[in-house]
Amino acid sequence: MAAKKKFVNTDPLDIDREKYFSEANSRLPWWFIVVFGYLVFFAFQYTSSHGGKFNYRVYEKYSSLAQLEDSQPVGDVDPLFALGKEKYALCAACHQPNGAGLANLAPPLAGSEWVLESDPSRIIRIVLHGLQGPITVKGEQWNLAMAPLGESLSDEEIAAILTYIRSSWGNEAPAVSSDTVAGIRSDVGSRSMWTAPELLDVPLSSE
Ligand code: HEC
Repeated sequence: MAAKKKFVNTDPLDIDREKYFSEANSRLPWWFIVVFGYLVFFAFQYTSSHGGKFNYRVYEKYSSLAQLEDSQPVGDVDPLFALGKEKYALCAACHQPNGAGLANLAPPLAGSEWVLESDPSRIIRIVLHGLQGPITVKGEQWNLAMAPLGESLSDEEIAAILTYIRSSWGNEAPAVSSDTVAGIRSDVGSRSMWTAPELLDVPLSSE
């Protein structure tokens, strides 16, 4: 059994180790603090901008809650509604994005008795063939003209738009099917713009 070696201080400088290490540990160089601080700041910024501002619902690939929600499947929302919302841009030019209409341009769709009629036969005709002359909407008289849009929109698109306007801005009326639109399109054929009295003569199926 070898004899235990005795520890000998061979340090040529023979420094006071205790003093040396405690001072070295307690003093961080100034540049290290600056660089480290910048890194923390940068990491925070990066995580914030890429992680939806620390929202726990936002996950990788999405950088904000709005972006994430936009790309989610519409779930139990009728796909017609989603299509209608998109295609409504065409009508929004006149009837406004919030459906409130605009003086001398177009009457409101929000709260309109025409839109809310549970049988959509009349509004389908308005979109297909257009409308002109005096019409009363929500107690107000309008006397303008809306061009026919039947040529530029498919049955499905018309059904979708009408479904959308019938369940937006507080409106609550049943969805419209493309079959109903197709039926009216082929029954009526091509014709001139409707007037309100003519539309009121169109028989409605009672609920
Ligand atoms: C170029 C402007 C314009 C566009 C685009 C337009 N409309 Fe109209 N719309 C009018 C005007 C003007 C009237 C009223 C016509 C009148 O005074 O006889 C009207 C009337 C209506 C009415 C009946 C009155 C009411 O307010 O409820 C409905 C329903 C309607 N539009 C739906 C639509 C839908 C749906 C679209 C899109 C597919 C659309 N409109 C696109 C101008 C427009």
